[in-house]
This record gives sequence, C-alpha cells and structure tokens, in this order.
Amino acid sequence: MEKKIFLIGYMGSGKSSVGSKLAEILKCEFLDLDAFIEGKEAMSVRELFKLKGEIYFRRAETTYLQEIIDQKEAKIISLGGGTPCYGNNMQRILTAPNAKSVYLKASIPTLTKRLFDERENRPLIAHLDTEELLVEFIGKHLFERSPFYSQSEVTISTDGKTKEEIVEEILKVLD
Ligand code: S3P
Repeated sequence: MEKKIFLIGYMGSGKSSVGSKLAEILKCEFLDLDAFIEGKEAMSVRELFKLKGEIYFRRAETTYLQEIIDQKEAKIISLGGGTPCYGNNMQRILTAPNAKSVYLKASIPTLTKRLFDERENRPLIAHLDTEELLVEFIGKHLFERSPFYSQSEVTISTDGKTKEEIVEEILKVLD
C-alpha cells in the first residue's frame, strides 16, 4: 500500500478504531491527528481548547494536517471530526498526492449512543447534560458539516457494521 488514507467523519464515527485496524492489516503506520497535535503541543485537546481556545486549536490542526500531507510515507490517518470543515483543509486533503479520503458515515442515533458516555473528553459536547440535548446538537452540527464530509472520494455507511466489516469495505475500494 503506497497511499495515504484519510479517515473522515463526525466524532464517534469510529475513525480511530477503524484506522488502527486497517493499518494493522495493511502493515503501515497509523496516525491519529488529535494524538499528533497533543504530542506536538504537549497538551491534551481538552486542555488546548480550555487554555488556548478553539481558534488556536484550529490553526494548529491545519498546520499539522499540512505537515502530515507533506510526509512521503504511506499511512492511515484518522482526522479530527472538525478537520475537513475549517479553512481550506478539505481542499488540501482532496489534492494531497497519493491520497484517498474515506468518510465513515454514521446516523445521529448511532453517534449519540456512542458519544454520550464519552463526551467529557470532547470539548464541543462536554457541556451537554442529557441525551436529548446531545441529539439536538449532533443533528445541527452534522447538517453543517455534511457538505464537507460528503466531498470525500469514498463514503461508507457504518451503522450496524462491525469494525472488521468496515475495514473490509475500505480494502475493497483501494486500488
Ligand atoms: C472535534 C473532534 C475531535 C477533536 C476536537 C474537535 C470536532 O476529534 O479534534 O475535540 O470539531 O468535531 P474526534 O473526531 O477524534 O473526536
């Protein structure tokens, strides 16, 4: 495999777990953009939002995205849920050499179920105290973000599928 595969999707869509499994099968490097940012900035995403603010985080996200695009090696990259939606990031992803973008599409109920108990480490949703509020937030947010996600070269519906089934589908579309 000589490509970079960018996994795109909302928080909780399975980008990291699918990405690491895919990398294991393809025997290539796995890189999680949030973890890469945390390493470079020596701070968690949660702290970055709290101490430096979202605008600082978004700038850092674009800088490190470009750094990854400029690396030559093949790898699987799981992006942050917001990465394709800021600045010209989606354009950068689509025009990156030897790259493939894959959108892991999940429904609002699936995302809500996955995110409710894990929301405290995700600064954008940590304050939502009930599932009803989370459903409403995800609904609006996904509506705004879908036009970016949908520009991906490949879209995979992930509802009701196991990580292994999703990985299989991705393998089928790689040339
Ligand atoms: C964000 C998603 C997070 C992280 C940050 C902002 C977003 O990544 O980058 O909390 O804007 O959707 P995950 O999608 O990996 O949770």
